[in-house]
Amino acid sequence: MSAAWTYVCASEELLPGEMKTAFDDVTGAPIVVFNLDGELYALEDQCTHEEFELSSGSIDPVEGSIECVLHGARFDVRDGRALCAPAYTAVPKFPVKRENGGIWARDDRD
Ligand code: FES
Repeated sequence: MSAAWTYVCASEELLPGEMKTAFDDVTGAPIVVFNLDGELYALEDQCTHEEFELSSGSIDPVEGSIECVLHGARFDVRDGRALCAPAYTAVPKFPVKRENGGIWARDDRD
């Protein structure tokens, strides 16, 4: 398990309703960080239907969801759970924090 945090962007670069991506410095996993009304959430940037990148899709800030651009599956950005077909498996959720003016996340899986 990695304890190293990956720098995503400066805090002011991620506004409410927006997202930013990075690759974990240690594992190489794609990460997408969402700003939902000022709260930050990080998920693996990969749809669980056919492993397409979620960050190509669009955020619904009211529902707090991201829609996969490929076949329309939606996921809750707060916990990664699948909200509709054709995806049934949750997207892994990662830790995220604000520190030293930046936003940091990490792939904390074994
Ligand atoms: S790859 Fe995302 S819905 Fe099919």
